[in-house]
Parts: sequence; C-alpha cells; structure tokens
Amino acid sequence: MNKIIVVGSSSIDLIVNTHKIPDAGETVLGESFFTSPGGKGANQAVSAARLSSQVYMIGAVGNDAYGTRVINNLKENNVNTDFMDVIEDVETGTAHITLFDNDNRIIVIPGANNYITPQKVLPKLDFFNEDDIILLQQEIPAETVDAVVNYAFTNNLKVILNPAPYRTIAQQTIDKVTYLTPNESENELLFGKDLEKMLEHYRKKLIVTRGDQGAVYFDTAVRNIAGHQQKVVDTTGAGDTFNGALAVALIENKNLAEAIDFANKAGSLSVTRLGAQGAMPYRKEMKSK
Ligand code: RIB
Repeated sequence: MNKIIVVGSSSIDLIVNTHKIPDAGETVLGESFFTSPGGKGANQAVSAARLSSQVYMIGAVGNDAYGTRVINNLKENNVNTDFMDVIEDVETGTAHITLFDNDNRIIVIPGANNYITPQKVLPKLDFFNEDDIILLQQEIPAETVDAVVNYAFTNNLKVILNPAPYRTIAQQTIDKVTYLTPNESENELLFGKDLEKMLEHYRKKLIVTRGDQGAVYFDTAVRNIAGHQQKVVDTTGAGDTFNGALAVALIENKNLAEAIDFANKAGSLSVTRLGAQGAMPYRKEMKSK
C-alpha cells in the first residue's frame, strides 16, 4: 500500500472560548480554556491516520513537555513518528486560538516548526517510493516546501499543497505540485477574483474548498462537489481534516470527484465537536455517511 507522508507543523493549541472579543486596551472575561494537540501538519496526519494506515509525519518539536505531548498524541493516533526531530533549546510550536461567534482567530508561534529545513527533510524522503503522497502546508519554512515539491516532482511522488496560512508561493512550486487546495480566501489572495478562469487554468490541480458548500475544481467544466451541512460547534481543523481525507481517498485510487466527496464528508463531521482533532472522524463513522 502506498504511504502518506505529512511534512509539516505540529503544535499545541491554546484555546479560549469567549462571547466577547476585547477592543484594544480592553479586558473581558471569557467562558473557557483548554489545550489540545494541533498544528496544520499534525492535524492532517491525524485526519489521514484515522481513516487509513501507513501515515508518516516529518516535523519537529522542542525538547519540552508540549513536544512530548505532541509526539505521544501522534503515536496514539497511529501516525509513525520515526522522522520527527526534537530540537534542543527551542520551544514546541503553539497556536493561540480564540473561538468567538462560531469562528476562530489564530496566531501561530512556529517555534521548532521553523527548524524543519530542507537539510533535515530531504534525506528522510529517500525512505519513500514513487506514487506515495506527500501532504504539505505553510506553517514551515517556504524553502522547505519548495525543496520537497521539487524532490517529489523529480522522484514521481504526488504532492498535495494546502496553502494555509496564505503566503506567496513560487510559480515553479505551483507548477510542480499535483494538487493545490486553498480555501476561497487563500485562493483569492493567490490568484485573484476570477475563480472559474483559474480553475480551468489549473485543471484537476486546483481544488478550492468552500466550507459547508463543498469544493470546486475543473474537469471538463467547473465541478462543484456539494458539502454536507452539520451543526457547527468548532470549525478549527476542518480544512486539515479535508486534506488528510483527500490524501487517503487518492491513495485508495478514488477518482478526483469521489476523493473530494470523501474529503467533504470528513470535513463536515469534524466541525461537530470542539478542538482541531477532537471530532476528526474514524473510518467507521464515514461508512454511515
Ligand atoms: O488548521 C487549524 C490549526 O491551525 C490549529 O490546530 C492550529 O494549530 C493552527 O495551526
């Protein structure tokens, strides 16, 4: 069976739930606080591993209690951590999340995730084979994303680049990825307002996610794969769930429409409970959908 390799961030999410967002200089009382494993890379790895086997994570944590928690959590979720580095004297990444009005606001402090360099990552990729799928996000250095995409292109591995959070991407990186999966706002920042034109330009490569509306791509025409409505508790990590599930469906040789439908279902289930990984579905839950 082909493998899924996530090259990406892992963090601890520090989450505040509030009914009021403070103005500058104001203090408000919030409702609750909890911590939870997160980071877009680790989230996508956990999403994939709950739906499949053979999921590997290449990343880095600090030599601290959060780092230990991140690694243990990945292991508990059946993610292979043999390629995780522990960086001395650097803190594990953290994400500072405010939940308000059914949406989230996130500030990420990358910490050890900034130490996921091409020098550390590329030798590890030699363990993998043609047709394995690499999942990338943008909470690690851009030069690493570029180098991994280049490696994958040269060695015939497939790559899904989830361009979150937004930053500019080298054109040759866009050209070499197999799939690019921005949400609507990331897509607009990357390519401007003419969605249909860009979908056609990046036929079967560009997949734009639209929350509970589903996702669009271009086949012989623009295709919208409808989403699934759920009662929303917390949308944090819904995009990560989508990307992890998409990788699983593609490794199982589903066609693109089927793969996006599978990913939409997983993403919709993930908003029904608190925390990025808290509601990521297991395979048996997908069968009932
Ligand atoms: O995509 C959600 C994730 O973004 C959170 O888990 C947080 O860690 C941030 O990186």
